[in-house]
Amino acid sequence: MDPGDGIDVDDYLAIDAVEATEPLQLRYNENPLGPSPAAIEAVRTYSTRMHRYPGDPIRALSQALADTWDVDRNQILLGPGAVGVIDTFSRAILDQDDRILRPDPGFGYFARSSQAHRGGDSTYRLRKAEGFELDAETVLDAYDDQPLLYINTPHNPTGATVSHETIETVATETSDETLVVVDEAYGPFSTQPSAVDLVGQYENIAILRTFSKSDGLAGMRVGYAIIPSGLAERHAEIRTAFSVSALSCVAALAALSDTEHRERSISIAREGRTYMHEHIDAPTWPSDGNFVLVEVPDATYVSDELEASGIMVRSGDVMGLPSMIRVTVGTPEQTRYVVDELNRVIASCA
Ligand SMILES: Cc1ncc(COP(=O)(O)O)c(C=O)c1O
Repeated sequence: MDPGDGIDVDDYLAIDAVEATEPLQLRYNENPLGPSPAAIEAVRTYSTRMHRYPGDPIRALSQALADTWDVDRNQILLGPGAVGVIDTFSRAILDQDDRILRPDPGFGYFARSSQAHRGGDSTYRLRKAEGFELDAETVLDAYDDQPLLYINTPHNPTGATVSHETIETVATETSDETLVVVDEAYGPFSTQPSAVDLVGQYENIAILRTFSKSDGLAGMRVGYAIIPSGLAERHAEIRTAFSVSALSCVAALAALSDTEHRERSISIAREGRTYMHEHIDAPTWPSDGNFVLVEVPDATYVSDELEASGIMVRSGDVMGLPSMIRVTVGTPEQTRYVVDELNRVIASCA
């Protein structure tokens, strides 16, 4: 079922009713604390200006991000979510029948975007036997001059980080014509710093970030890339005009300054993933994201049983991991509940 299926449109704006019937949603790695309160306030205040095109809010958000990351404003490529930025890369870089190189298992949209832009995809494999760790050799063995190459750290769905050394080796050993996109959608939850400094050192590295996770703005659709200055001009020619709405920009701007909400979101994710790793009665992998991958006897059975208890998790078969589920870290209370339920269901499989 896709998000949005089964919704009664007439009732949808009755927000209390919607929230009362909602299951515990641990499927999409959203923020269990909700949006930053500063973002809610900013949207309320700015809503009287929704008749205006968002030129000023886009410039203000781009400038704030440029200041945050210490780059030029034209190196910030905004999009409607990180997926929107991925689409911009596909459009800018892929010619007909070009392929991308992406991790398997991994985030499905890399391939979907390429296919939607008449490209194809090839993969490098992350192996369970190696704890899903990624080394440069694995990527380079699969490299065949693909113009777009994705590395995801922390990696969805395994939670593993990729070292900066690996990223640098991949960037060095691949052609200048290959853009290495380092997807840091879960970067704020990681104990490893962003690889953003590499953008100044390598002309073929871009960093991808989003407001959907640690800032709780998944519904607002704001993502961005920090791109090398050499690419900035080319992308200016193909970027969608006003690709992010004014209200999304002001929400993101407010969330950017709300360090308290972000820090709390990060610490809940870090504590929750450790709790899950230690208390789930099944193999899990140490995660640097806001989710944990769990190996279960039967992923479809386990996720169906959890759904019957009102808990939605991601079944691994859609991610190429048929014996696994991915569980988003909730609030501490939700996390304890899901661990108890999961252990009950796992025990019933025996
Ligand atoms: C690895 C990865 N990249 C990008 C995204 C997309 O983020 P956004 O909501 O900004 O489109 C996700 C969303 O789950 C993700 O897991």
